[in-house]
Amino acid sequence: MTDIRRVFIVDGKPFYPLGGEADNQSGRSDNESETAFQAVKQLHGNTLEIAVCWEQVEPEEGEFDFTCVDALLAKARRYGIKLILLWFATWFGGTMYYSPAWVKTNTRRFKRLLSPSGKELWALSPHCKANLEADKKAFTAFCKYLKVKDSAEHTVIGIQVENEPCVYSNERDYGPEAQAEFNGPVPAKLINAMKTAGKGRVYDVWQQAGGKKSGTWPELFGWEAGKFLIAWNIANYINNVAGAGKAVHDIPMFMNIIPRYYNLELDIYKWFTPYVDFIGPDNYEPDSRTYESLCALYSRDDNPLFLPESVKELTDGGQSTQPWIMFRAIADYNLIGYFFFGIEYIMTEDGSFRLEFHMLVDSIKCVAEVIPLLLKYQGTGKIHAVAQDEYMKSQEYDFDGYAGLVQFGTGQAPPAWKDWRHPPEEMLFKQQNGDSNRGRGLIFQASKNEFYLVGANYRLFLQPKKSTDKMQAPLPVTDPPYLSVDEGHFDQNGRFVIDRQRNGGQVLAGIWVEPDCGVVRVILCD
Ligand code: DGJ
Repeated sequence: MTDIRRVFIVDGKPFYPLGGEADNQSGRSDNESETAFQAVKQLHGNTLEIAVCWEQVEPEEGEFDFTCVDALLAKARRYGIKLILLWFATWFGGTMYYSPAWVKTNTRRFKRLLSPSGKELWALSPHCKANLEADKKAFTAFCKYLKVKDSAEHTVIGIQVENEPCVYSNERDYGPEAQAEFNGPVPAKLINAMKTAGKGRVYDVWQQAGGKKSGTWPELFGWEAGKFLIAWNIANYINNVAGAGKAVHDIPMFMNIIPRYYNLELDIYKWFTPYVDFIGPDNYEPDSRTYESLCALYSRDDNPLFLPESVKELTDGGQSTQPWIMFRAIADYNLIGYFFFGIEYIMTEDGSFRLEFHMLVDSIKCVAEVIPLLLKYQGTGKIHAVAQDEYMKSQEYDFDGYAGLVQFGTGQAPPAWKDWRHPPEEMLFKQQNGDSNRGRGLIFQASKNEFYLVGANYRLFLQPKKSTDKMQAPLPVTDPPYLSVDEGHFDQNGRFVIDRQRNGGQVLAGIWVEPDCGVVRVILCD
């Protein structure tokens, strides 16, 4: 049993945020954001991630304008969805794109990152107190405004503080303050944190460099000194900003990061950002192995897995595996919320979904159907992912009391008879025309004889373990011990409501699921 820290709470109950991130400019005006809100609703999502930019809310120093926030609150309430606001300020990746002009143009007061040759980069230095104070002041004003405008309705369920903070090209800042720190003593707080942890990647780097109890960054961390120094500074900077905001409006706050910059020094971020509820990797990895390794890295006792960003489709021109490996993030790594970037792009002019995104759209709709089960069973070992990787024909499961076999497509069995909505010729057509509808979804074993299935293009065969003869998969299991097989949905109170009942030929070829079936409940008898 894994204790899942439900960071997001709505109306006093755990909440599972699901949706997409709007394009970066969409939060600027009312009409810009319309498509993003529509897309969340059509996806059956419940939350939109959208940016609030420092340059827009404080165009002149000390003069605040939260018109854009009012527009987002009003629209979210009209659509009946929640918001996660993204604070684009000091960092937008390794740049200061969204800092105000009066910050960008005053480089004497607001120090930039310097390259090794001393060139000013288009980025603010985390070593500069003036940068921190200015960002913190604006963020505090933003949070105060939310406190006044949203304490009662709680439309904004969380804030992402900054966006993918990092240093592009160089590993750190080479300005005078940074150089002095780099050649100065590593803070005792960091050394004590490593001693207390006694394990982890930062600890290992320290030990490999000799495990000195004091010294400069290069003396304690060798070749990783620069990355650890910038991590220490970014972590303390963002924690400072988040803490100031929480002091006036205490809602969940998190960081999103570009994984390739952070995997080694993640511990430093976790140890020194107590005001940051979790750190979420922007997981754009198209292949299942790398995708899952990131999920494993960020799913920690001190850090629930949340994906602030992922990819909606092709990355290098190829297909992404995400529409089906996302189910492994949910089942195997206890994902507490899922978003993909650029939600507007899945919509056509007439408000329908673009065909190339049908797999992702159907996957998110399937997740939305089973949120009550996710909140109940994540961490219990009762959720099993179905994810058809390349050339995969089936998956086997060892359930309580049953051997399970998931068959993808028609497999070796003849085209499975489903029902008038999914006739065998549909299956044959898909088989012959290389349907890109990968088998995917989730299986919940709520109790020994009660299963819930959701997803697409797979069938589950169950064989009671009591019988001595092994299941001759994938031939249909004759006389399956089903008491009922029902399609349905969960109502507002989390109760299962039957929409259609199956029996006879519709259950002889395994329990099949497609996105338009909703949730399929199977009750068996001993
Ligand atoms: C990563 C950023 O965090 C997102 O806001 C967006 O700009 C994507 N890159 C675009 O690929």
